[in-house]
Amino acid sequence: MTTSRLLIVSNRLPVTVSSDGGEFTVSPSAGGLATGLKGPHEQSGGLWIGWPGDVGNLDDAQRASLDEKLAELRTVPLYLDQEEASRFYEGYSNGLLWPLFHSLVDRIPLESRDWEVYRSVNQRFADLTVAHYRPGDTIWVQDYQLMLVPGMLRERLPSATIGFFLHIPFPSSETFRVLPRRQEILTGLLGADLIGFHTFAYLDLFTRSLMRLLGVEAEVDRVRYAGRNLRLGVFPMGIDAARFSSVSSSPEIIAASAAIRERIAPLRILLGVDRMDYTKGIPRRFLAFERLLEKEPELRGKVEFVQVAVPSRTSVDAYVALKQQVDELVGRINGQYGTITWTPIRYLYRSIPEAQLITLYRAADVMLVTPVRDGLNLVAKEFIASRVDDDGVLVLSELAGAASELGESLRVNPYDIDATAEAMATALALSPEDRKARMSALRRRVHAHDVHQWVAHFLRALDDAATQREPVGGQ
Ligand code: F6P
Repeated sequence: MTTSRLLIVSNRLPVTVSSDGGEFTVSPSAGGLATGLKGPHEQSGGLWIGWPGDVGNLDDAQRASLDEKLAELRTVPLYLDQEEASRFYEGYSNGLLWPLFHSLVDRIPLESRDWEVYRSVNQRFADLTVAHYRPGDTIWVQDYQLMLVPGMLRERLPSATIGFFLHIPFPSSETFRVLPRRQEILTGLLGADLIGFHTFAYLDLFTRSLMRLLGVEAEVDRVRYAGRNLRLGVFPMGIDAARFSSVSSSPEIIAASAAIRERIAPLRILLGVDRMDYTKGIPRRFLAFERLLEKEPELRGKVEFVQVAVPSRTSVDAYVALKQQVDELVGRINGQYGTITWTPIRYLYRSIPEAQLITLYRAADVMLVTPVRDGLNLVAKEFIASRVDDDGVLVLSELAGAASELGESLRVNPYDIDATAEAMATALALSPEDRKARMSALRRRVHAHDVHQWVAHFLRALDDAATQREPVGGQ
């Protein structure tokens, strides 16, 4: 008898392990993919294959004990040695693919020598997946770090059901063609039965690259390649909205957010919560806040910006430089406008427990989600789901994938500092009725399209696509 399981394959596991003298600490991973898929994985009964983070040098006994601990969570670790972590994760994935896919071409390195390691680590992910695969399983590969895996799996498991989801934007073909290994990346992805994107714009751009760089024509969402039919689809990811709402309704969170508001009353709170990443637009957001204080002096002493910046990819040079830039900006703005009794920006460079995060979401007057480019942005949805009081205003970048879904937010071009400052002022001035009307509409949408519906929708479409795939070689 075969039982069908879901095998999630992603670079990062939903938990990250750190070790100190052989003692392991297992903590939840940051980022939308890990937080979003955690619930569905817990409910699915399948396996999650991925990297547990830098665990240091372990002897065989320590590794066996860690494997066992992770197996209890139905996670299968793929360990990267130092060279792999530096060249696959920091180098090819985050030094080259990340800026390129976010259309930040001037951030790509002059030269990259990490392709071979990207390929070999993708092969290791594919091999480990094959080793755990049982006939009937559904394999779901995630994101840009593993774009060769679908093709590698297809070679070994020609009739397996294989899905792929891209959590980041897909760039224009003019940008994508800059990538030296562009064909291999495209053919790697085409090993899947279904390739999912957050927005129709990304899907459309992908089909243009298929046409221009491979000469493969897509009929809207259908592609025929190497004797198989495969499908493309748009699936904007959701969050576990019910869980956020329920935590946010708990008496502890209500009391904690009231306490924050009381402590800082009558100040109004603007909030930002991001991984410390240059795509998130944190420096421009602070420049806009500075512009607000400059142009509207009556707001000085009346508003406070709380920014949580979660450390991320701290070994990649661009992230080190960003942290320095943000540190300096915070210092400059606080130095210029702060008083003995008022600090304009409260800046927390650390990850904070979920309960504290939800407390902040509830306490905020205005949430700023202003990336210069973002696949979707789940923080925006977390904020909305936490506002069970139907209050609070979301200011959202037009360049976040979520902008096409969250029409009742105040949308801004994050490159326009004046417009972003004005959006902050408008958000602070909205009437309670207007805030309520916008937030309740947003909340309905975030609840109706939550992560469970996202998973179900993708897996149904994947099942359909696999059924319509013709046998390999049947062209
Ligand atoms: O959402 C994009 C993404 O790269 C995910 O794949 C990843 O889990 C998240 O951002 C956080 O990044 P990292 O795993 O590099 O810390």
